Amino acid sequence: MLAGISSSYLRRGLLSTATRSPRLLSSTRLAPSLSQTYSAGMKILAVLYKGGEAAQQEPRLLGTIENQLGIRPWLESLGHEFIVTDDKEGSESVFQKNIVDAEVLITTPFHPAYVTKDIIDKAKNLKLCITAGVGSDHVDLNAAVEKRIQVLEVSGSNVVSVAEHVIMSILLLVRNFVPAHEMIERGDWQVSDVARNAYDLEGKVVGTIGAGRIGYRVLQRLVPFNCKELLYYDYAALPEEAAKAVNARRVEDLKDFVSQCDVVTVNCPLHEGTRGLVNAELLKHFKKGAWLVNTARGAICDKDAVAEAIKSGQLNGYAGDVWNVQPAPRDHVWRTMKNPLGGGNGMVPHYSGTTLDAQARYAAGTKSILENYLENKPQEPQNIIIGLSGYETKAYGQRK
Ligand code: NAI
Repeated sequence: MLAGISSSYLRRGLLSTATRSPRLLSSTRLAPSLSQTYSAGMKILAVLYKGGEAAQQEPRLLGTIENQLGIRPWLESLGHEFIVTDDKEGSESVFQKNIVDAEVLITTPFHPAYVTKDIIDKAKNLKLCITAGVGSDHVDLNAAVEKRIQVLEVSGSNVVSVAEHVIMSILLLVRNFVPAHEMIERGDWQVSDVARNAYDLEGKVVGTIGAGRIGYRVLQRLVPFNCKELLYYDYAALPEEAAKAVNARRVEDLKDFVSQCDVVTVNCPLHEGTRGLVNAELLKHFKKGAWLVNTARGAICDKDAVAEAIKSGQLNGYAGDVWNVQPAPRDHVWRTMKNPLGGGNGMVPHYSGTTLDAQARYAAGTKSILENYLENKPQEPQNIIIGLSGYETKAYGQRK
């Protein structure tokens, strides 16, 4: 049975979510006697990713339109209307049609519904945007401030998941893993072809742009690798004790920072100050043959400049799971770019923060934010990106 569908829900003769249209899973499609109750409640709209067969077989895929964060029975028992869709593009999409009168919008960074200023202008009833996960750059935060729409995310819910992915990505680039595995799949065996570009992580300088929850966890996990040095670049200095615990040195100038690193990992949010931060100009200051890992947001790195740097060998590799547009188009250059030795690409779809463990945490966190909202209780301060009086976080750029 699917998670989130209580047995009483099924006993009431309602369809399981998995058998309804994957495009629109709305309570408005339920029995008329019940839909009357819902119209008395508020409209909660969720844009999640389509899980397909996998979501039907694996109920712990909670972040999907099929499994609906496990909150449908609860919301409906309270009389609210819950509309769940993956259809997010264009004025005729389920997202754009329903945003007009929704009071709460739930989105995920994995299949982002872009909440632009135009959408916010259309959303006359919108009071709360919840990011099921971490990273709310798909919402025009300044427009939300203007309209006094609160934006909350489930801070910390997937930071370990991402930090582990970063460590894996660093290792797979430095050790030239992907071409080695591809060789095995092809049926070949020519050790020198892959060993010629394989190194140890020990003795390298690794630096993180952003030393918040994820960046710091990456530094912690790097300690046992005996790197030559761990560096960080962040306008917020780490507390002295925390920096000491991982032996990390802060570098305050970004060009100076990248010029010292063999590996750079990007772990800051996307905002006005970080969009296109890693561009052609900055890439010139990287060590030749450095590796770059970006699991933060695709648009922090300039797509074409990165592809060019990989092609020329200025970067030996690029890995990550985030793209400037999601889903990434089939011909996105990051899917297939290769360094001059035919490797250096560790790209995957956006999934580092949506492991099954992470999904359990961000589904529970989303429910808890909703509960606080519905019961008029204070929200956990660390979850508030935009509160009623503006930015509550210091992580989305330096503001007065
Ligand atoms: P956090 O808020 O704990 O830390 C962010 C850090 O970045 C803060 O220390 C902040 O001062 C720093 N920062 C902000 N602007 C900066 C700039 N211009 N230069 C240098 N540092 C800057 O956030 P957390 O939890 O570490 O997450 C970071 C980002 O990772 C999220 O905003 C999100 O975009 C991304 N993320 C990606 C996931 C994935 O599945 N790929 C999942 C979770 C988060």
